[in-house]
Amino acid sequence: KVINHYFYDEAAYDYHDGGYVPLEEPKTPGKPLNIPEILKPDQETATDMYYTIVAQTGEVQLMPGEKTKTWGYNAPLLGKTVVFKKGKTIHLHLVNHLPEVTTFHWHGLAIPGPIEDGGCHAPVYPGESRDVAFKIDQPAAFVWLHAHPCPSTAEQVWHGLAAGAIVQDDHESSLPLPRNYGVDDIPVILQDRRFHENNQWNYREDYDPDGVAGPTPMINGTINPYFDVTTQKVRLRFLDGANRREFRLHFSDDLEFTQIAGDLSLLPHPVKMTKLLITCAERQEIIVDFGKYKPGDVVTLYSDDVPLLRFRIHEFQPDTTVLPETLFETPDPAVDKDLPVHHVTLDGMDEAVAMNGKKFKMDRIDYKMPMGKVQLWDICNTNPAPGMIHPYHMHGTAFKVVSRNGHAPYPNELGLKDTVAINPGEHVVIKVWFHVSGVFMYHCHIIEHEDGGMMAQLQVIDPANPDKKYHLMNHM
Ligand code: C2O
Ligand code: CU
Ligand code: CU
Repeated sequence: KVINHYFYDEAAYDYHDGGYVPLEEPKTPGKPLNIPEILKPDQETATDMYYTIVAQTGEVQLMPGEKTKTWGYNAPLLGKTVVFKKGKTIHLHLVNHLPEVTTFHWHGLAIPGPIEDGGCHAPVYPGESRDVAFKIDQPAAFVWLHAHPCPSTAEQVWHGLAAGAIVQDDHESSLPLPRNYGVDDIPVILQDRRFHENNQWNYREDYDPDGVAGPTPMINGTINPYFDVTTQKVRLRFLDGANRREFRLHFSDDLEFTQIAGDLSLLPHPVKMTKLLITCAERQEIIVDFGKYKPGDVVTLYSDDVPLLRFRIHEFQPDTTVLPETLFETPDPAVDKDLPVHHVTLDGMDEAVAMNGKKFKMDRIDYKMPMGKVQLWDICNTNPAPGMIHPYHMHGTAFKVVSRNGHAPYPNELGLKDTVAINPGEHVVIKVWFHVSGVFMYHCHIIEHEDGGMMAQLQVIDPANPDKKYHLMNHM
């Protein structure tokens, strides 16, 4: 069975917003898709990896004419792709060469909070650095790094502070999946920007409390990109790195593709589809089979009716690999009977956004949960219909989606997730457990909603050290 419709409530799609900024096809000449380089470790041993990550300013020739002033990690815009190997201890030297305070948040890594996690309690001031170390103990996935200073996460991400990171493990490596990075395995970071005078971005001028958007699609930091296809099958690791925009993906000819992974793991089984909606901060991995095309053909990836990325078909060897029926066994630990369902509400829109009726406060712990225990969380989007879809994200954990308003989750969210989008009026029940302790944020990933206060934080208590005190900042 092939899924040929988008999930979620159509009435809540972002194009119904009053402030919606439609995407427009760029009029600039096509350019090769930027493939972020793999960041070289400073050192790697059998057990440890060492990286230096520098947040820096830069400028990039995005449009004809003046270069655009941008920010990035080890690169002028976005960043190099970081590779983490499961089982290894990672040592990071985090350096801030920006003119303002920032943080380095690992979205999707299950690592202790609030310092290693890199949320708002782990500032790195201009000209300074911070060293952190953590062990990678989670399945293969495509995760990401982004700035997370409160309340200017949205503005810093808009400047370009977002980069992909790949977690590798032996299980994923044993499967017949494309993984030749840059050739048949490519990150596709979906964003949008508005170019003002002299090709500059102007976050403040474009500000919208429901999320900043621009009309120009920017893919891996490329405007109007194409990719040269030299293998029959290509694995695309989509990341919605936009502040607000949903992307409703589909290909020309309604080309069928196969989703193999979501945020934090492979899916239990491959899912065939022709349409895929991705919301802010989610990752969706697909394999596209270009077998029916011939050299010279062009296959286009669209969001709604706007082209995002063109695949130019070249000569390739036939590829007869068959995907295994089972890709992954999603962990499904039993819920702890002593822990009642925890309720979270995502409230309001615009400046009125809140969580459980309250605005985020950096030095307030909103909830406590024991490490290692498993609990159901019921997340409700209280927006009256038509409302908007809020992508709900939790730091430091990988959760399992249990139900949507009592019904089964969508077929492509049966793996591990860190972000789940919620329709207006919907209750999504997720199963939550932590294997690391500390203070973690959870929030809507429309970044302006998060900065605007649709965010809270929990303390995960390590039974071996229940009285551990954390230093919580109250401003940055
Ligand atoms: Cu993408 Cu609070 O994170
Ligand atoms: Cu995160
Ligand atoms: Cu929201």
